[in-house]
Amino acid sequence: MTTAAPGAVVRYEPRGAARELFKERSSEVVIAGPAGTGKSLACLFRVHLAALHNPGIRCLIARKTGVSLTSTTLVTYEKKVAEDALARGIVSWYGGSAREAACYRYSNGSVIVVGGLDKPEKIMSSEYDLVFVDEATELTKTDWESISTRLRNGVLSWQQQIAACNPSHPTHWLKQRTEDGTAKMLVSRHKDNPAYVNADGTLTPKGVDYFNKLDNLTGVRRLRLKDGKWAAAEGQIYEAWDDAVHLVDKVPHTAAWTRWGAVDFGYTNPFVYQDWWEDPDGRLYLANEIYFTRRLVEDHAKQIKEVLFYPSGQPRGQVPRAIICDHDAEDRATLERHLGLSTSAAKKTVSDGIQAVQSRLKVQPDGKPRLFIARGALVERDPELEAASLPACSTEEVAGYVWAVKPGNAGGLKEEPLKKDDHGMDTMRYMVAEKDLGARPSVRWLN
Ligand SMILES: Nc1ncnc2c1ncn2[C@@H]1O[C@H](COP(=O)(O)OP(=O)(O)O)[C@@H](O)[C@H]1O
Ligand SMILES: [Mg+2]
Repeated sequence: MTTAAPGAVVRYEPRGAARELFKERSSEVVIAGPAGTGKSLACLFRVHLAALHNPGIRCLIARKTGVSLTSTTLVTYEKKVAEDALARGIVSWYGGSAREAACYRYSNGSVIVVGGLDKPEKIMSSEYDLVFVDEATELTKTDWESISTRLRNGVLSWQQQIAACNPSHPTHWLKQRTEDGTAKMLVSRHKDNPAYVNADGTLTPKGVDYFNKLDNLTGVRRLRLKDGKWAAAEGQIYEAWDDAVHLVDKVPHTAAWTRWGAVDFGYTNPFVYQDWWEDPDGRLYLANEIYFTRRLVEDHAKQIKEVLFYPSGQPRGQVPRAIICDHDAEDRATLERHLGLSTSAAKKTVSDGIQAVQSRLKVQPDGKPRLFIARGALVERDPELEAASLPACSTEEVAGYVWAVKPGNAGGLKEEPLKKDDHGMDTMRYMVAEKDLGARPSVRWLN
């Protein structure tokens, strides 16, 4: 497919589900399949070409959080879809304002607004002809339905909202929508991606690399991201976890709340810092999370300081009552030195810690669990983890955090977690163990 609008050169060869997407006129479309099949690229081209060919239309590209949209989907848009149009000034970037959402403006009057459903007021105050939501399984059904009320700009002769996603659990609301006929499902496969698979089915050199990465995945992540199955995790440790219950948009902390920090050190594996708030009833809320590989402790310390302090040195809210750490003595000393705060050693026993987390996840008679994670908690997405399809924050670990299978035993589960993709889960357990299983030390300023 080569286009079109005066001056802008775009070459793109859609295959399979990507090709079908360009012919599809249903008002709701879901393009789903394993990681790396070309779903995001296809949807971005769909929106970009529609904007180029149809003067004056209004489009939206969204993801659950604005931060993740910028670091993933919009990078692909700028580098692989609109690079030439941006360079020639056919498309220009407008950074937005306090009230207005950011957007790409086309010289023919078309607009692509971009933003996260975590700041709905900005993107929901407009009307659109065409909407693309990436990683749409992160949305709530209400998010998705509220988008449909904005699809009435009426400049394009058809209005459409497109979701791209990897498979999630088998009863996910988005999959159910395609099963009851509300949305049209397009199944995307690796053979649809010419960057990885040649027309004769053999892999390209890039494809060989990519499949090597996918081959390292295990369990439910492998089933979903490599095999493309809407699969449930077997032996999931936190079975009670439910995005609809445990994820919140905002942590409503006040001066009456207590702040905590928890750390799991790592370099090749992710380093994790979790910024927890405890409400006066003892419920824990994860407000900010640093989850990053291949950075030095001192660099993490800088980022933690940005979370905890204003540039003036004034605490944002308050200083954590304790910073509970994994036991590495050298890393702890480095972190303390660069933060100027003391840390304490985590209570690391596994089985009682897991039980304590499990009991916090249960919904109590007041209708709430005792542990929540804020959707936008992740401070910065690690592109290396993203490229390897590995979890990039704690919420992405939960589904794959499973009991280990006893070697040589047909299907029996060991009473210990599989030691893989568990860094956020360990950190969360340290936090909960601190509160529920032991005595509490407190943070001192080090001078
Ligand atoms: N039709 C295509 N032609 C060239 N490259 C493609 C095509 N489809 C996908 N790719 C490339 O393959 C990689 C994965 O595509 P992406 O859209 O990010 O996959 P997904 O969203 O399914 O995980 C990207 O680098 C993308 O540019
Ligand atoms: Mg994608």
